[in-house]
Amino acid sequence: MSRIRTAFTVLMDIPTPIVAAPMAGASGGALAAQASGAGAFGFIGAGYLTSSQIQEELSLARAQLLLSDADPLPIGVGYLAWQLDKDPAAVGLLDISLLNRVQAIWLAFGNNIGRWVDYIRSYDASSGRGQKTLIFVQVSSVKEALIAIQDWKVDVLVAQGSESGGHGYSAAPPLLTLVPSILAVLPKEGPPLLAAGGLSTGGHVASLLTLGVSGAVLGTRFLMTEESFYNEVQKNILVKASANDTVRTTAFDNARGTLEWPEGVDGRAIYNKTVKDVDAGVDIEIVRDNFKRATQEGDPDRILVWAGTGVDLVTEIQTAQDVVRELHADMMKHLSFASTLIAT
Ligand SMILES: Cc1cc2nc3c(=O)[nH]c(=O)nc-3n(C[C@H](O)[C@H](O)[C@H](O)COP(=O)(O)O)c2cc1C
Repeated sequence: MSRIRTAFTVLMDIPTPIVAAPMAGASGGALAAQASGAGAFGFIGAGYLTSSQIQEELSLARAQLLLSDADPLPIGVGYLAWQLDKDPAAVGLLDISLLNRVQAIWLAFGNNIGRWVDYIRSYDASSGRGQKTLIFVQVSSVKEALIAIQDWKVDVLVAQGSESGGHGYSAAPPLLTLVPSILAVLPKEGPPLLAAGGLSTGGHVASLLTLGVSGAVLGTRFLMTEESFYNEVQKNILVKASANDTVRTTAFDNARGTLEWPEGVDGRAIYNKTVKDVDAGVDIEIVRDNFKRATQEGDPDRILVWAGTGVDLVTEIQTAQDVVRELHADMMKHLSFASTLIAT
């Protein structure tokens, strides 16, 4: 694979500026390992896993990458910061990732992210093993970006636009507004900036590279892989969906009772009868019963399928390796095209 040189690919020592997002309930060790193995950088989503499950996923990634227990693990793990705040067991999960020598930890969605940045830095300092765990933080405003850069000195900053699949801040601007606003305040010596939200092709990523980001984070595109935890019914819905089928909503968190997200957070998912019922004011207990039954039975009209707007452009389930290779080839094509536009 040819190399695309950005501050991010240099920092990570990888050929292609693509990150497979941490996705709670969807990205495990196989997805992360296959993405990293193909030249991108893959994350496991730790949210809602137990300690034995996270250890299994990390061991699976290590085995798939043919690494020994002594080797650092070239994948990352993403934590929901509100879970770390609330639950000591979640902090135990963070310790497990650090013990497994993952290369990066991703933090998002919490009111005390700085505390967890310090926690990871202290772990590294006291471990005596000479490893610096890279810290990725995902933000959706210039204000949050400045705190992450100046106060927490994050290693990688991720700008999440409103097009994103899964949870995000409802007030997030579209990516093409958010990215230039953050780039305008990003100091020269600041962290690499990655763009996230609604991206599913190499052309998307190439266009953002020309805007000045150092890489891109894709979630929905990697949901549509053989390795993701999504089941056949969910993948089928994604394959057929268009951007108009997605909606930002809190209906699914209400329906499944996951209500501890920080204020202002909702999520983009496929619109269906669960959202329709919540919006119409149907008694929440009825919505919950229907949702529970639908989830057990795999009823496509009511189940939860997170998806970003980029779902429109993906029409098949591939392996994660093929997705990375296809994105890279498409990116190269668009970057070469961009260079032909310059008149000599
Ligand atoms: C199913 C799913 C689960 C997600 N889980 C997390 C998570 O646990 N932590 C997090 O910071 N972001 C999470 N996200 C958001 C991603 O980090 C990323 O911002 C998003 O997927 C980018 O938008 P895209 O899906 O349109 O590519 C999730 C996204 C999806 C689709």
